[in-house]
Order: sequence, then C-alpha cells, then structure tokens
Amino acid sequence: KHHLISAADLTRDDAVLILDTAEELSRVAGRPIKKLPTLRGRTVVNLFFEDSTRTRISFEAAAKRLSADVINFSAKGSSVSKGESLKDTALTLEAMGADAVVIRHHDSGAPHRLATSGWIGGHVVNAGDGTHEHPTQALLDAFALRRRLVGGELGADLTGRRVTIVGDILHSRVARSNVRLLTTLGAEVTVVAPPTLLPVGVESWPCAVSYDLDAVLPDSDAVMMLRVQRERMNAAFFPTEREYARRYGLDGERMARMPEHAVVMHPGPMNRGMEITAEVADSPRCTVVEQVSAGVSVRMAVLYLLLGGAGPTGEEATATAS
Ligand code: CP
Repeated sequence: KHHLISAADLTRDDAVLILDTAEELSRVAGRPIKKLPTLRGRTVVNLFFEDSTRTRISFEAAAKRLSADVINFSAKGSSVSKGESLKDTALTLEAMGADAVVIRHHDSGAPHRLATSGWIGGHVVNAGDGTHEHPTQALLDAFALRRRLVGGELGADLTGRRVTIVGDILHSRVARSNVRLLTTLGAEVTVVAPPTLLPVGVESWPCAVSYDLDAVLPDSDAVMMLRVQRERMNAAFFPTEREYARRYGLDGERMARMPEHAVVMHPGPMNRGMEITAEVADSPRCTVVEQVSAGVSVRMAVLYLLLGGAGPTGEEATATAS
C-alpha cells in the first residue's frame, strides 16, 4: 500500500496497527530524546492549498521527530496565485525529490488525483480535501478515544463504544472519515444535525441519524462537536448563533446529561459560544488538547508505516495504508 486517501481504505487491522504504532512512537517520543533517526534522508512536503493550524503543524512536527527533511508549501504566496496548476506544482515537487506529499486542498478528490496521476512517485497523504475526507483526523480521534475509553490498550478497537457526531455534517470531511473509521473499529455512531446540515444520502451511511441531541446524549460514550463551517455556506443559509446553540450547542447543562465517563471531543478550530460553550471546551471532560497531541503521534505512525523507515527498535516497517 502506497497512499492514505480515505478512511475507507483502512481495514480494522490496518487501523489498529496505526494506533498501536502511534502508541509506541508516542512513548518513545515522550522521553527526553524527542527525535528518532527513522526517516533520515527522506523528504516530506506539506502541500497546503487551504488554511490549517493543527494538521500542518502536527505533520511538520511528526516528520521532524522522525528526522525527515520537511518542506512547507502554502498556496498563499506561491505561484498558484499566478495560475499554476496542481499538475505543474506536483511536477515541481517531484523534481525536488519528495518522498511523501501531505496535501490539503479545497477540492474534494485532489489527493486522489495526485495519487493516481503519475505526476509524483512518492506517497500521498490526504490532510483534508473539500467536504470529502480527513483520514488522519479520524485516526487521531480514534487514538484519543481508545486512550480515554479503553485505556490505550494495544490491539484494542472501539467495539460497542457509542460515538455521537453533532453539527454541520453536510460540510464535514471529519464526520465522513470518522463515520467510516469508527464503524470499522466497531463503534456505534450516531450523527445529529438539523435537517439542513445533513447531506443527501446520509441514510445510506453506516450510522444512525437523529435531529434530537438531548435524546442521544444519555446513550453516548463520546460526543464529538463539529464546527459550523460558515465559509462553505451561502450566507442566506447561515443559522443564527443563538438558535443553533439552543438546539445543537453543547453547554454545561447538556454535558451533565451525558454518562459520567463520557467525553466531549472537537477537531478544532472551535466556534466557542456556537457549537460549544467555553465551560464545556475548557472542562476536563473535553479531549480537544489530547486530540492535538494524538495528532502528532498518529501522523508519525502514518509517515513511518508508509515510508517504511527503521523503527524505534531498528526493525523495518511495512506499509499499511492504501
Ligand atoms: N482539525 C483540523 O484539521 O484543524 P486545522 O484546520 O487547524 O488543521
């Protein structure tokens, strides 16, 4: 396997291997020696056509902790603004010797195009494409969930855990990747949203669908709040902040209806006051900061497994993602 484009490409065993590798790498990386020689001499290009804080920085941190050379490319300030195509950008990166390209793009399908075009020979990792997928976000969410709900046990999946994903499902690549990956890992997923923020065809997704957040909260082991993505909406369809928060926002009162062990997740960036109150975002039940840390470990694991460098104990990795 050569690329990671979709969470659907991962079998249960692929996903568990990535989570286990991330656990092992996080333990090594957690020691005072923060750097491993694993990917010395390899070049990872972060190719970002869309804004990012967490994903871009954590891929950079992950590659550097594995001793890869990192090139950060941002479309803003590049020749893309002069009209250069994805193809010519890719050919330029290939000429510079990229072993892996981590791509975020506003167009759904751009990573798939890059991976199948023959423009580059290296590995392609989807860091979020349009409203399509964000597979490493789903992996880091699964990692954080496994730690909180299953104690981070190696080899474990999320069988029987009930995960509720709430909010702007229509525009969410995070929701699409999570529904796929979490169900592959055995979780029972429910998506909750106003009808206007659910995609056509959601009935065929491998999850339950509800419009009533209060009804599902008591039966959730984790509640994942999504950002309302105003930048992808026609202004005429903006929900008002107050109305949205009243029906679909998570505040302290609603959080109290969740089981005691249940956690609150958010991929970030958050609209505090809209889908989540500051009280909930800053509570110990909220895993948002743990999710960011998990992102570095999981992205180290993905790069390590794809690029097949020598591991923490010197063994060679086998590539896992397709
Ligand atoms: N969760 C996430 O993808 O955040 P960024 O857009 O900041 O990378």
